[in-house]
Amino acid sequence: MPIISMPERKAWVLRTNHTDYAIGVDESGALQHLYWGEKLSLPDDYPGADCRQAWIWEPEDGISREETMPWGKRNFAEPGLKVEFADRTRDLVLHFTGAHIENDTLRIELQDALKSLQVTACYRVFGEFDLIERSLEVKNTGDAPANIEQAMSAIWHLPVYSSYRLTYLTGHWGAETQLRRETLHEGKKIIEARRGITGHTSNPFFAVDFGDAAEEYGHVYFGGLAFSGHWKIVAERTPYQTLQLAAGIHDFDFRWLLKPGETFVTPVCVGGFTADGYGDASRKLHGYQQEHVQRNGGELRKVLYNSWEATYFDVNEENQKRLAEKAAKLGVERFVVDDGWFGQRDDDTAGLGDWHVNRTKFPNGLKPLIDYVTSLGMDFGIWVEPEMVNPDSERYRQHPDWVYHFPDRPRSEGRNQLVLNLAREDVQAFVFQTLDELLSTHEISFVKWDMNRYFSEPGWPCAEAGREREIWVRHVNALYDIWRRLQEKHPHVQFESCAGGGGRVDMGIMRFADQFWTSDNTDALDRLRIQWGYSHAYNSKSMVCWVTETVNYMNGRRIPLKFRFHSAMMGTLGIGMNLNHLTPQEIEEAAGYIAQYKQIRPVVQEGHCYRLSPPEHSDLTSVQYVGRDGLQAVVFVFRHAQQFGHPAFPVRPCGLEPYMRYRNEETGEVRSGQGWMSRGIQLKLTGDYDSAIVRLLQVQDNDKEFHSFEKN
Ligand code: DGJ
Repeated sequence: MPIISMPERKAWVLRTNHTDYAIGVDESGALQHLYWGEKLSLPDDYPGADCRQAWIWEPEDGISREETMPWGKRNFAEPGLKVEFADRTRDLVLHFTGAHIENDTLRIELQDALKSLQVTACYRVFGEFDLIERSLEVKNTGDAPANIEQAMSAIWHLPVYSSYRLTYLTGHWGAETQLRRETLHEGKKIIEARRGITGHTSNPFFAVDFGDAAEEYGHVYFGGLAFSGHWKIVAERTPYQTLQLAAGIHDFDFRWLLKPGETFVTPVCVGGFTADGYGDASRKLHGYQQEHVQRNGGELRKVLYNSWEATYFDVNEENQKRLAEKAAKLGVERFVVDDGWFGQRDDDTAGLGDWHVNRTKFPNGLKPLIDYVTSLGMDFGIWVEPEMVNPDSERYRQHPDWVYHFPDRPRSEGRNQLVLNLAREDVQAFVFQTLDELLSTHEISFVKWDMNRYFSEPGWPCAEAGREREIWVRHVNALYDIWRRLQEKHPHVQFESCAGGGGRVDMGIMRFADQFWTSDNTDALDRLRIQWGYSHAYNSKSMVCWVTETVNYMNGRRIPLKFRFHSAMMGTLGIGMNLNHLTPQEIEEAAGYIAQYKQIRPVVQEGHCYRLSPPEHSDLTSVQYVGRDGLQAVVFVFRHAQQFGHPAFPVRPCGLEPYMRYRNEETGEVRSGQGWMSRGIQLKLTGDYDSAIVRLLQVQDNDKEFHSFEKN
């Protein structure tokens, strides 16, 4: 039973396989947080809604731990909901009016004490993954407009504890999803995006422990926000040892006009608790994403080739055909033509917005290339960046008013381009029709949807008065709607979300995206850190990793082909190098890795991920995947740079059945699961950039033999 109702206490317990989340109504009618943690057995185990701690100068009924944290009366913490009414009242006091349970969903209805505003706190339970989805619905039931100034998807209250530590992801272009862990002191720690997209500099993921959790043990509270625009997560620690996490659409420059009868719905924020450390937290998120969020979550991702680093803007029918031939011989399953195929697109100064095939580069259109690619047994994919125009484009010359701008003020360019105002219906129609036509007239199975700048001067001059600041949400909702409609019409087409690498990676766009372009940084060593951080929040199937050339264009590093492949084989494998530059020996070697990847692909893409050795703690990184059926484990090990006389330390796998036997596929050595986990795998990795993949296969007839050994 995912939701237990305790009517005599006006309380509810959201129960997952291992956790309870309890809420209840206090004497004043406010919805209070009661408990979040391991499953409890008796109704009396949960605290009452009225037993909050009182402090002088704080409200006498105690410091509020309201579930929706309305900004009103003496709620001083980061607001969960802030509203201005037509008479300029800015005070919101929410009282319980009813609860509705339907299967795994609980909806608690609240109403302002004096104004006609109805708020619904929505909860959905994902028992298997110990996760709860939360969102808020705000309805204007009065006859005058109101303005929402802040509406968070969730307020998470953590148990009172003496020490809190926040784990989050930060970075920048070329170094996304860098993991950070820091102690929270009194005050607020804010991670946010105020640039229109999810962002490279932070990602809407959080995890909090009490300072003592590690990969495979310790209490961790964690989650993520499903939104691709303007967001913030505020961890607010008070001097009273409480911690509140608010997650939702950013209130910065945000204001939503709510007319009578209208409802505003926030994006979803998912949160969970585990007693088994960061690794378990990640595995829960990964599984939830695969089963409930990610588009085509149950399908294996194809090995793709992407032309970007091989030919940049210089694509044409001939050079792409030559690359396609070579890619097909390697075992590639999808061939993607990146930027440069349309308009006057010879570099990044022109062409965006003019989505017709460049006839100089493709004299007979794309069809001959697509036919060739498909005749080689591969799918055909294409790059687009539909939310943008270059000022040097026919589209912009015709519709200069289609971009975000303030009248009579400069329009800042980023990568020589401007952002189309997707809040406008005519722009939405243009973007949808462009893509619809492209997909209707070509045999295209894959779209890489790029987005290469942040928003600036976010003006919407023709907006209805009072709606100008809604663009931060309207843009994202319009984008989701366009993807949804395209996918309904072209269900076989898969989508990759890219924003100059990993600038738009989140669980909002993940509902429509089959995969993400993780980073423009394809250096195999840098990637270990990027992928390590990424794995905390997102599953490996969504993480696209290309093998590119050495010397790497970004940081000039030379790395052997084996290490480059192994690093990229930890997610959805892609090839991004100029295949004409490979020697026959390298081609043979690369084909071998691709064949090996296809063998281990179900384990890597769909298995349980265990992070064994972090890139920042030593010169050895290791990550392991255990197949969902438990029959095999794949361990990746990377030696960055050996110091003389220091052998690689043994890597200790996790997640094996202790009493089953496993054979090391390469050496033939057989040990029990416990034997591998306790003694570890000792590898001879030497010098710079050495790496290995170890496959441990469960010995099928081992039950009998194992028990006879025990008897001896
Ligand atoms: C940025 C992307 O991240 C790259 O992979 C490539 O598609 C370029 N844009 C093309 O302009």
